[in-house]
Amino acid sequence: MREEGLERVVAGSADPVESAEEVTLRPRRLEDFVGQRQLKEHLEIVLEAARRRGQPADHVLLAGPPGLGKTSMAGIVANEMGASLRITSGPALVRAGDLAAILTNLVEGDVLFVDEIHRLGRAVEEILYPAMEDFQLDIVLGKGPSARSIRLDLPRFTLVGATTRTGLITGPLRDRFGFVARLDFYDPVDLDAIVRRSATILGVEIDQAGSAEVARRSRGTPRIANRLLKRVRDFAEVRSDGRISADVARAGLALFGVDELGLDKVDRAILSAVCSRFGGGPVGLSTLAVSVGEETDTVEDVYEPFLLQLGLLMRTPRGRVATPAAWRHLGLEAAAGAPPPLARETLFSEE
Ligand SMILES: Nc1ncnc2c1ncn2[C@@H]1O[C@H](COP(=O)(O)OP(=O)(O)OP(=O)(O)O)[C@@H](O)[C@H]1O
Ligand SMILES: [Mg+2]
Repeated sequence: MREEGLERVVAGSADPVESAEEVTLRPRRLEDFVGQRQLKEHLEIVLEAARRRGQPADHVLLAGPPGLGKTSMAGIVANEMGASLRITSGPALVRAGDLAAILTNLVEGDVLFVDEIHRLGRAVEEILYPAMEDFQLDIVLGKGPSARSIRLDLPRFTLVGATTRTGLITGPLRDRFGFVARLDFYDPVDLDAIVRRSATILGVEIDQAGSAEVARRSRGTPRIANRLLKRVRDFAEVRSDGRISADVARAGLALFGVDELGLDKVDRAILSAVCSRFGGGPVGLSTLAVSVGEETDTVEDVYEPFLLQLGLLMRTPRGRVATPAAWRHLGLEAAAGAPPPLARETLFSEE
């Protein structure tokens, strides 16, 4: 059995490939995790109760768009439980044996983090059911008439699953999580707190108006807040005195192509494709993705959720439609002579 895609994480880092800076910015304890108050409160109770019973916590499923803190939260669950974190992901677990190897190597109380859990294969997922429910592993030895099935006891562990797409999690898998939480986009106040926390860790001087400006343009996403902070820090060091004021933040963000609403080049390309090329829509997702040169999944998981949240884009049964706010944001007049919906549908009928 292979042990690929598995890391025993020692120093609280959650993603083995990310930079050291990213690791230090990652919150380690529940109290460092900014925002998502309700989720934190619920999780606090779940973890505290498990600690008092001296048992591993129930399995946790975290859903939400990229960069909102799912991986960080998995690390926090392990830290708060005084357990070690083992990390793998749906696509890394190709065969049932891959998961079996991981499960049999777990130690009582371990937190097993499965990122992108919606991408688990069928056979792998079926191994997971009895493991989650009864802490048992069914393995088949041999092939053909001499094959026999044996059942192994597994140590009690906590599974933390993360997904950007709740809709793709099968019912039986979802039902086996004792706690399912959805992470929402962060409001500007929370993002501001995240920017100031990160600035302190990075040793960057930023005033209140400066951090508010970075926060406001972060697409509701902590990962983007941190990324913009670093780019604005670079800008401040090279073009100014290293301190980040509102003016420096504004100039830096403009230079890096982040607009007033926090939209970047791809966001704007998507909106302008819908408005200009497809007369405001409806346009099918894959047509839209091709027209901006991105993968369909990327458009759907990374870009679209925030555009929907801002009310710039709408999902309809026939495809994506730009709202009047999108036309205004691009400084365009809504197309008067857009072809009627029926004609469009025959052109782009994928949805
Ligand atoms: N609530 C928070 N408070 C402070 N920082 C946060 C918070 N959530 C996320 N971050 C920061 O944002 C970064 C990205 O978070 P994380 O990797 O946990 O997101 P994710 O939801 O796992 O994203 P993906 O779906 O892309 O894997 C972290 O490195 C961390 O620095
Ligand atoms: Mg992650």
